[in-house]
Amino acid sequence: MNNQEIKASIDEILLSFYQKDYSLLSESICYSIQAGGKRFRPILLVKVLEGFNLKITTDVLKVGAALEMIHTSSLIHDDLPAMDNDDYRRGMLTNHKKFGEANAILAGDALLLDPYQLLATVDFEAQIIVKLMLSLAKASGFQGMVGGQSIDINSENQAISYELLKQLHAKKTGAMIVFPFIAAGIIAKVPEATAIQLEHLGEHIGLAFQIRDDIIDVTESFETLGKTPQKDIAENKATYVRLFGLEKAKQLLSEQLNQAEVLLGQILDFNSETLKPIINQLRIKDEL
Ligand code: IPE
Ligand code: IPE
Ligand code: MG
Ligand code: MG
Ligand code: MG
Repeated sequence: MNNQEIKASIDEILLSFYQKDYSLLSESICYSIQAGGKRFRPILLVKVLEGFNLKITTDVLKVGAALEMIHTSSLIHDDLPAMDNDDYRRGMLTNHKKFGEANAILAGDALLLDPYQLLATVDFEAQIIVKLMLSLAKASGFQGMVGGQSIDINSENQAISYELLKQLHAKKTGAMIVFPFIAAGIIAKVPEATAIQLEHLGEHIGLAFQIRDDIIDVTESFETLGKTPQKDIAENKATYVRLFGLEKAKQLLSEQLNQAEVLLGQILDFNSETLKPIINQLRIKDEL
């Protein structure tokens, strides 16, 4: 499947889940769903499974859609005035700017809980579904994204160690990007050793993704970001750019991507060509 096909399938699953009535809740959720995210995480899931030569069924895409629900929830809540206080997301007004804070909180709540309903309807063995739910819950809750968001908010205006910064990035962004690698391993029933390799690969790509997000906050414009540039500086966020400066952050991004490429080549019975373009897209062209 190409990226356009994956995006279209994810949109279809999400919209058919939420366009069940004409409520304000449905409208606000669909507003954020249709705002045009990259669908990076579901694309990863599909590409890893294709690397194992697995057929991409609607059930696989539902797992990707469940992940994208939580991702969208995290963005709606991340933008709230009490969090990062952002006015724009994906080139459009943020959910709370459009629908008000209370409705945005509720849209985020639904998108955080509904994935488990969707996963429960997937036509996989019960054991596989339970494993997927467990991994998704870990990736998104206290141990994952929400835990990371807490470190992020409480690190504003604080001098934090490199250790804590790595933990922050691994949790707030990394965990949700590792999930497609773990999920693909569960669905493809790979041996334990391969599952561990996949998880490590996901960790490098997840960290790279957030280092890149820290960099482009400084280097790119509203037009390419779809969100307010230089926002991390304004909020004095703990980022790779703040801790290391722009050039060193670019170098650390490059190192993560190089390590990901090395790991990619080590996975047995896996066609690494499916993931190489994604790793290359994360490279910043003028990097050292
Ligand atoms: C933005 O994620 C939030 C981060 C984890 C950096 P994406 O860059 O994947 O956002 P969309 O879904 O494409 O808008
Ligand atoms: C994103 O962190 C992490 C989550 C949304 C979970 P950021 O706050 O850096 O994301 P952007 O830059 O607003 O997209
Ligand atoms: Mg944030
Ligand atoms: Mg933010
Ligand atoms: Mg950011």
